[in-house]
Amino acid sequence: MNTKVIKIDDTNINDFLIKEAASLIKEGKLVAFPTETVYGLGANGLDENAVISIFNAKGRPQDNPLILHISSKEQLKPLVSEIPEIAYECMRRFWPGPLTILFKKSNLVPNIITAGLNTVAIRMPNHPIALKLIEYAKTPIAAPSANLSGKPSPTSASHVIMDLLHKVDMIIDGGSTGLGLESTVLDLSGDQPMILRPGAITMEDLIPFMPNIKQDVATIKEGEHIVPKSPGQKYRHYAPKAEMIVYTGHIEKVIETIKEKTSYYISKGLNVGIMATEESKDKYTKGTVLVVGSREKKETIAANLFNTIRAFDEKKVDIILSEGVEEDHIGRAIMNRMMKASGGKVNRV
Ligand code: TXA
Ligand code: MG
Repeated sequence: MNTKVIKIDDTNINDFLIKEAASLIKEGKLVAFPTETVYGLGANGLDENAVISIFNAKGRPQDNPLILHISSKEQLKPLVSEIPEIAYECMRRFWPGPLTILFKKSNLVPNIITAGLNTVAIRMPNHPIALKLIEYAKTPIAAPSANLSGKPSPTSASHVIMDLLHKVDMIIDGGSTGLGLESTVLDLSGDQPMILRPGAITMEDLIPFMPNIKQDVATIKEGEHIVPKSPGQKYRHYAPKAEMIVYTGHIEKVIETIKEKTSYYISKGLNVGIMATEESKDKYTKGTVLVVGSREKKETIAANLFNTIRAFDEKKVDIILSEGVEEDHIGRAIMNRMMKASGGKVNRV
């Protein structure tokens, strides 16, 4: 398949190009586009065949449901059978933005979107290109992250090109995404509000007006007996080619442990990558050190995490030793992705 790659400046959107992308969506084609979280792989969310081609392009298992993206709150009603009071408050505070809400679905939503579940995930992204694309396509757009299944989510068009060139009809290059981690998934379809995937809208943002909110335990630890409430969370994700091990605890202890392990793995003949932070980078004298961001500003770590994981692949390291972060605010989402990327190898030292 020939993939058309176009550049759109999000501060000065070329209407002609966006309309071309929107007409592809209307025709049932696949268009990758930027959002404020990560790049999405979009198709007409009400066209079953178009949605099936998303699963095929990504190699994604069909039991993993998709998010429907809308550009105005009016688009929500036909897609759901019930809007709880608390959802209005969430939408008022956080839409457009990195919050996906689970509602009870309406009959309009194809079963392929929800993987047969009776809930549907909806989000209004806060990105001018995404919003215009949905508006002009005149349909909700189904969009998982625009990576091959199992790979880190793409935070720039070059990542999308690496994974999906010749597999999709168009890729819109709108520069780097700002937040870098996928949206928070919040289940409001039952009596117990629950975070199924942590993201930039944090527990701390929600608690003040939703004091009974819980976070699915599967987002914090992995284990045979832990069945995630969100199907996507059961798969290995964001995985680098190399093995990855994460160390958490007091930072001095973490650094000391990573240094010891680095020497050990080098002595075994391995090419060792260290995922360090601004504050710690000068402490490491061996291995391939990449800085993921600043511990003082965890948003920078979120923004660069997937990019850094991909960069280690390019450097062909055999093992990545990574510093963890405190599990609060955005740190919860960062640690969730590190847990997935490492296949659960998170060690407290
Ligand atoms: O930031 C984002 O959310 C990005 C951008 C492109 O919008 N999209 C994204 O989509 O991350 P995806 O498909 O990679 O992740 C969607 C997650 C999966 O873990 C999926 O299992 C979950 O949402 N999900 C979707 N519908 C669900 C449902 N009805 N019940 C439970 N989980 C659901
Ligand atoms: Mg994904």
